[in-house]
Amino acid sequence: MAMGTNIHTYYYFFLSMLEAIMMVLVHVRAHAPSTANYKFSLNARITKPTTTPQLISADRKMEYSEDAAKIRSEFLQVLRSRRTAEVPLSVEPAEPVKDPLYQEIPKPTFSEAMESCPKKEIPNFKELLQEENFYLTTEAGEQGHLPVLILKLKETSQKRRPAIVFLHSTNKCKEWLRPLLEAYASRDYIAVAIDSRYHGERARNLTTYRDALVSSWKKGDTMPFIFDTVWDLIKLADHLTQREDVDPSRIGITGESLGGMHAWFGAAADTRYAVAVPIIGVQGFRWAIEHDKWQARVDSIKAVFEEARNDLGKSAIDKEVVEKVWDRIAPGLASRFDSPYTIPIISPRPLLILNGNEDPRCPIAGLELPESRAREVYTKANSVENFKLVAQPGIGHQMTSLMVRQASDWFDQHFNP
Ligand SMILES: *[C@@H]1O[C@H](CO)[C@@H](O)[C@H](O)[C@H]1NC(C)=O
Repeated sequence: MAMGTNIHTYYYFFLSMLEAIMMVLVHVRAHAPSTANYKFSLNARITKPTTTPQLISADRKMEYSEDAAKIRSEFLQVLRSRRTAEVPLSVEPAEPVKDPLYQEIPKPTFSEAMESCPKKEIPNFKELLQEENFYLTTEAGEQGHLPVLILKLKETSQKRRPAIVFLHSTNKCKEWLRPLLEAYASRDYIAVAIDSRYHGERARNLTTYRDALVSSWKKGDTMPFIFDTVWDLIKLADHLTQREDVDPSRIGITGESLGGMHAWFGAAADTRYAVAVPIIGVQGFRWAIEHDKWQARVDSIKAVFEEARNDLGKSAIDKEVVEKVWDRIAPGLASRFDSPYTIPIISPRPLLILNGNEDPRCPIAGLELPESRAREVYTKANSVENFKLVAQPGIGHQMTSLMVRQASDWFDQHFNP
């Protein structure tokens, strides 16, 4: 038994070392023109005592990319720690979902913001639109079946097109995103949506997501809040980069609310997501605990916190309950993987954070630290223009038409479809 544990420990240690090395290599490759700088800074590290400011700055740059590789590999280790068996990535055809499952009552029907996305006027658009539905196998077991919906134009002048992955909010599903998918498809993107864990086709009834959160608290064997879906996003990137119609260097990621958190962590974990726009998702989990501003976030998935309160023998949910729940169901979310650490590691890739200035679930003061840290890292990488945070005045926890347009402009600006 102890032997097996040791072998596993060494195996994972070996894997994470390998990953860290690969990340640095991939990073150097992806930034071919600056390879010389990297060599330079590697040398600078070996010969250490240098005094010219240029050398110091190259040295610091290297330290930041080492930090990023370290956080990324630690995060992957957490994702791997609660996985069912690995299976080969396979694609299974699926039928379009006629009656998608929403885990909220009443069923949502229309969103002005969703409908407001810039489109290209194309005659016979519906006939030119091609739809794909399939399941991607991301691990063993029922939740290892990732439902994917893709919309794209049948005909295009581009050999390989940019792809954008869209992530839905709590209790919704990939079909909810159709208006966005169509708008991006009309502009010659490959528009991709998935059902998050325990949502849409991965849910059985109206309480599946809630039940999964409670079960994770009880058993500690899954990570239904954010992390398990990030695992799927890594597998999705494997698939997208292998497709002949996708330009692997132009894959973007965006999402609303819970989907904004998925976009944030997906981009942090996997550098193949080249441009990211998390919408009303980025927040300071630790900040909220320390400043007594966790209530609105807790209310959005109350059942698991109520269960924990009861198990801990308390009469009310307090900051200790909040901290224990995060630690248990998403280890590191309110500490080493919180936004001050996982937002800067998206640098130097273009990152636009869109929030509401009055959002109680993502209090704006909680973004000060991740913002200032990110700005520093992007500046060091000579990419300060690639980082932007917009907090829309007078807006609470709501994705607005303005945000939809800003996200769309950001992708156009960087992917130029
Ligand atoms: C939903 O499904 C689960 C698992 O099959 C079951 O335990 C639960 O009671 C169901 N809930 C409702 C509201 O039907």
